[in-house]
Amino acid sequence: MSDQQILHDRIRAVEWSEAGLKLLDQRLLPMLKQWVTLRDVEGVANAIRDMVVRGAPAIGVTAAYGMVLAGRARYVASPRSWKQDIEADLQTLAQSRPTAVNLFWALERMKVFIATLPEGDPGVALLEEATRIHDEDIAANRRMGALGAELIKSDSVVLTHCNTGSLATGGFGTALGVIRAAYGAGKIRHVYADETRPWLQGARLTAWELVEDEIPVTLIADSAAASLMRQGQVKWVIVGSDRIAANGDVANKIGTYSLAVIARHHGVKFMVVAPTTTVDMNLSSGDQIPIEERAEEEVLSLVGQRIAPQGVRAWNPSFDVTPAALVDAIVTERGVVLAPDVAKMRKMMGG
Ligand code: MRU
Repeated sequence: MSDQQILHDRIRAVEWSEAGLKLLDQRLLPMLKQWVTLRDVEGVANAIRDMVVRGAPAIGVTAAYGMVLAGRARYVASPRSWKQDIEADLQTLAQSRPTAVNLFWALERMKVFIATLPEGDPGVALLEEATRIHDEDIAANRRMGALGAELIKSDSVVLTHCNTGSLATGGFGTALGVIRAAYGAGKIRHVYADETRPWLQGARLTAWELVEDEIPVTLIADSAAASLMRQGQVKWVIVGSDRIAANGDVANKIGTYSLAVIARHHGVKFMVVAPTTTVDMNLSSGDQIPIEERAEEEVLSLVGQRIAPQGVRAWNPSFDVTPAALVDAIVTERGVVLAPDVAKMRKMMGG
């Protein structure tokens, strides 16, 4: 048995090939397992915007590979000015989605790397840097898996929201990585997954990942979470994040905040699992995190079928902010911050 199988970890959704960047199309899962191959930066930006790939770390990794495609094309077009010309591609990618700071972190890292490159064809070096970003993300997830699993007592039942697994990251997952690691260590008996309206990342993606990796899962409607907690089985709510502010406020998929409120009411612990590439120390609180609002159509319809009457409007924020006061633990690859605040976050970030 390979390491990946032991860790209940068989899925990868972002892959580089010489034909281009291959993404497992997450809009079609679990009904269809179809890959798309992207050959230019516009294609990559559209894939992020249209949710072919989603999840904060996966968006960052994808953008890094997008910069490889951009660098190669710009160098062929103009070997002398490619470093200036590629600025436009950075902007194209930066405008794809606003909330996940991993996107901006990855673009900044590629930009800094590009500035260090000597003259000549950058193709190989850019690919090496993007691959390092990808590999580091998987390593961070493994580390967080081990750290988060230590917080969980044996025979636990946990609840998760959205999809934070291999599909949402370079591989293994953040919150789902902790769940994978804790299940592998015999600490988790059962996982409940919120279906996560309107995109149904829980029903379509988390349930699929857990079934594929043979981890027992039960799906619930988002509105069933309070009743489930009232039954007293759930010990931890475990979620990921798209951006964590310097004071420990956490932006994550819409519905996370309500879970944190009902978890505190029922004495259920609340864990956020995210790599330091998700931490934005430039924002003092969650109030400053830009929250993406997506098309009304996503709420007015379900799997392409209109469900609301004509004439009604919808409000569709994609994320919400959970105040640090409702978070029991933030798990990063650099360590665990219990009851986060600005001083503890600074210490963990090493500044
Ligand atoms: O809109 P999505 O599917 O990109 O939202 C994803 C989430 O909210 C995840 O919880 C978050 O990105 C963490 S993924 C490891």
